[in-house]
Amino acid sequence: MPETSAAKPSWAEPFKIKMVELLRMTTREERERVIVAAGYNTFLIRSRDVYIDLLTDSGTAAMSDRQWAGLMLGDEAYAGSENYYHLEAAVQKHYGYKFLLPTHQGRGAENILSQLLIKPGDYVPGNMYFTTTRLHQERAGGAFVDVIVDEAHDPASEHPFKGNVDIAKLDRLVQEVGAARVPYISLEGNVNMAGGQPFSMANLKELHAYCRRHGVLIMLDATRIIENAFFIKEREPGYGAKSVGQILREICDLTDGATISAKKDLLVNIGGFLACNDEDLFKRAQNLAVVYEGLHTYGGLAGRDMEAMALGIEEALMEEHQAARIGQVRYLGAKLEAAGVPIVKPIGSHGVFIDAAAFLPHLDRDDYPAQALAAAIYVDSGVRAMERGNVSAGRDPQTGRNRRPELELVRLTIPRRVYTQAHMDVVAESIAGLFARRDNIPGLRMVYEPEYLRFFQARFEPISP
Ligand code: F0G
Repeated sequence: MPETSAAKPSWAEPFKIKMVELLRMTTREERERVIVAAGYNTFLIRSRDVYIDLLTDSGTAAMSDRQWAGLMLGDEAYAGSENYYHLEAAVQKHYGYKFLLPTHQGRGAENILSQLLIKPGDYVPGNMYFTTTRLHQERAGGAFVDVIVDEAHDPASEHPFKGNVDIAKLDRLVQEVGAARVPYISLEGNVNMAGGQPFSMANLKELHAYCRRHGVLIMLDATRIIENAFFIKEREPGYGAKSVGQILREICDLTDGATISAKKDLLVNIGGFLACNDEDLFKRAQNLAVVYEGLHTYGGLAGRDMEAMALGIEEALMEEHQAARIGQVRYLGAKLEAAGVPIVKPIGSHGVFIDAAAFLPHLDRDDYPAQALAAAIYVDSGVRAMERGNVSAGRDPQTGRNRRPELELVRLTIPRRVYTQAHMDVVAESIAGLFARRDNIPGLRMVYEPEYLRFFQARFEPISP
């Protein structure tokens, strides 16, 4: 934040623009054809048909000139690339874990971790599910158990740390099945499916003490952990004077290891890693990496990608970056709130989440209101959002029925360093207009349902009113 004479200086980007990517505008008629051809699934739209792309914050960041320059330092040796050692040093310094295994992206690390730590019949508690994380836990024979605080399932709750673990829920599980059947708790920073909600340091300390007593490991999903650290600095007593980097380190020191999708916090277009402190676990992970990812010093990445990631860690820890990133998300959220649009509160770090169940109360959950709303937003303005509700949650493996989660959300995810305040205005105007005409938005019927992570590839048709 700049030092100015203003009482409360506004956030502004700590960068200027050196190169631009032109966007293509489409007509409403074109978009009506596109959404039908895409089976009402925004994942199946070609990006050339999108005006403002808020599908995800994953791999969509604009890299800095330093990162682009870093690409030229790519050492593309099959084994022992210089960039691996640079990345290893950055992870050791800032996250504090001893051992680093790069992977092609987050789910590559999740696959390896799940296979190594979960035995069939185990239970894996977590502060809300994430789609790929839970799938890998289930494929390894485990069952995911949600132990997040109740407030996380209530879009209107203003709880400042809706990502907190409810230790009583965790204890109930441990008492019921025995700690030997609970290899680790999967702890996510800025919980994606809850709307980008942080956990507090106080909660993590309590969790750490509990897990040490019962011999349960804490494995962090560090995908958006730097954004979580920023929220701790803003909201938690005693942390205002600490740097985001110090808070990050304090978090990691209370955990046993981490998987990360570097495509978010770390401002790169591809990459991830698994990091831990246990040498035996690390050796076994390195060995599995050669089966699924590539040699353990590149894990499916080019040397240049690892270089960009190492530089991205430093940029992500710059507080002016986080202030502008989160400032922009809040700017959009405040505009939507002012228009009366129901959104998840408090506004999270990586996007604004519309409460589609409240937006479209005339639709049943099995008419997929969030999917229908994401499609309607696209047709209205060419803005691409994503469903995070009944389609994303999938079916219960035991009953085969839709899980019908409490949160039925449309995620307007903001890529880092990509769009301007004026883009946010266009998004807010379109959604406010749709809100006024919301009764006309029809529900959807699923006409094609793939077996895994169905939200990526499912197809729908409108239910005629
Ligand atoms: N964990 C979290 C919390 C995530 O948000 C993601 C990806 C992953 C793990 C998996 O990482 O995609 O690199 O394999 N989230 C993206 C999203 C897909 O749009 O939220 P990945």
